[in-house]
Amino acid sequence: MTTFDGLRALLTTLGLNEAEALLDSHLERAAKEERSYADFLADLMECEATVRKERGLQMRIRRARLPMVRRLSDFDLAFQPTIDRRQIRELQTLRFLHDQSNVIFLGPPGVGKTHLSIALVMEALGAGYSAYFVTAHDLVADLGRAAQQNRMDARMRVYLSPKLLVIDEMGYLPLDAVGATLFFQLISARYERGSVILTSNKSYGEWDSVLGDAVIATAVLDRLLHHSTTINIRGESYRLKERRKAGLLTPSQAEKAS
Ligand SMILES: Nc1ncnc2c1ncn2[C@@H]1O[C@H](COP(=O)(O)OP(=O)(O)OP(=O)(O)O)[C@@H](O)[C@H]1O
Ligand SMILES: [Mg+2]
Repeated sequence: MTTFDGLRALLTTLGLNEAEALLDSHLERAAKEERSYADFLADLMECEATVRKERGLQMRIRRARLPMVRRLSDFDLAFQPTIDRRQIRELQTLRFLHDQSNVIFLGPPGVGKTHLSIALVMEALGAGYSAYFVTAHDLVADLGRAAQQNRMDARMRVYLSPKLLVIDEMGYLPLDAVGATLFFQLISARYERGSVILTSNKSYGEWDSVLGDAVIATAVLDRLLHHSTTINIRGESYRLKERRKAGLLTPSQAEKAS
């Protein structure tokens, strides 16, 4: 005869901790409601599965190192009429991840490039994919340190293994020659292996100066754009709108922003 404690120990041994914690209440309910054995077991296992799924999602969110949480549902598309809703809906299906295709958000400060990138990461994480977020500057600095310390392979794996890699803020700080080479190495290694979402305030024509080398810029863009969607946002900064609403802009700033 199986004792209650024996059964709990068995569930713990099998790593079914949620089922173990809920066993008492579920047994009681099953007895009261005269549930079938199958219903009892299905309920208990469903609780275990739900908790595991949520725990997995929270773990993937932590591992993605997002600077903030943003969702597509928080994004006011009406505020940015240059964004094609259909394109965003298409990206939301995550087919681009399946095709190892890239997404590039271009536009001036505050138009929602980082927001949309993070929102797509959240969609991907929710669907069970892994993702990692890094700024272009941090990425190149990290790879530079790794190269000096002979840890290049290990650090490269951090950026190559996630299904989705976000490289934010490409172009705010120009890269030096070593940085440009490392950036090229990474893009080349991820090419047709995993999707990249990249944001930049610079148009493609300006990437020569961002990377400091026309040949490298061409090679990077060639790989990045081969399978890709570019979303060019030409609009007002949402940050400015919020400051204006709060009455924090001087008259001349407000005029420039309108
Ligand atoms: N259309 C929008 N609807 C709701 N919130 C928005 C919208 N656009 C931007 N935001 C919010 O405004 C802030 C600035 O947006 P975000 O960081 O995405 O801008 P960005 O394009 O990445 O700018 P930068 O080039 O300066 O990094 C964020 O808090 C973001 O959530
Ligand atoms: Mg940004």
